Amino acid sequence: MSRITIQEIVQKKIREEKIIALTAYDYPFATILDEAGVDIILVGDSLGMVIQGHTTTLPVTMKDMIYHTRIVSRGVERAFVVADMPFLSYQVSEKEAVYNAGLLIKEGRASAVKVEGGEEVIGVIHAILNAGIPVMGHIGMLPQSVHKIGGYRLQGKDKISSEKIFNDAIALEKAGVFALVMECIPENLAKRITETINIPTIGIGAGVYCDGQVLVLHDLLGLTSPPLPKFVRRYASLRENCINIVKQFMDDVNKGTYPGPEETYT
Ligand code: KIV
Repeated sequence: MSRITIQEIVQKKIREEKIIALTAYDYPFATILDEAGVDIILVGDSLGMVIQGHTTTLPVTMKDMIYHTRIVSRGVERAFVVADMPFLSYQVSEKEAVYNAGLLIKEGRASAVKVEGGEEVIGVIHAILNAGIPVMGHIGMLPQSVHKIGGYRLQGKDKISSEKIFNDAIALEKAGVFALVMECIPENLAKRITETINIPTIGIGAGVYCDGQVLVLHDLLGLTSPPLPKFVRRYASLRENCINIVKQFMDDVNKGTYPGPEETYT
């Protein structure tokens, strides 16, 4: 089976078909998302919070990202795999940015990288693209700038910040990113950007008018604990289910009903 291409993702915008993206950080969930048929699997640096237990994405290293991207890629036959560039992997110099993006492709086996930021990262994006590596942009609420913005909160509420985000979107399209994640911005701003630019917009907390949607898989499955952001829809309560399953196992062991005859070698 061949993998989805950038051209096919961009075509979806033209055909007005929604683009579906979800995060995965390991092999089993990558196989599940691929079999379900999502378009894009994002190995997000959100893994720092979701599976490493940090309070921000800032401690995530290149080593972490390469490892998780590699085990995700191993489980994917069809979806387009995008790997996040972690904090400090692209901010120091364009040279380091190209090298680190290259590692995510070469060792992680991703098909593209994602970089947070607007006009301030245009130089870096040009350098990575010049190395032949596709780049996905990320504007609005930027988790790697959490200390600068003072928490995980809605961005683009006032005229000045809304214009900055709009101008960032235009600049990123011009720089050559193939798609744009828009995180935690008002839906009217997301709609304006989606209607203005020709590349797909993929929203997370950006309303229904985006060309596609992305969520953290563990939030969607109910593996993370509330309180969760307003934009998350919890489709299941797998955390609670897992706790109950483990308790049943403990019960069976305590009562001596596990292992039974059918689970025993005689
Ligand atoms: O790190 C991540 O998972 C992300 C998505 C939430 C867009 O950047």
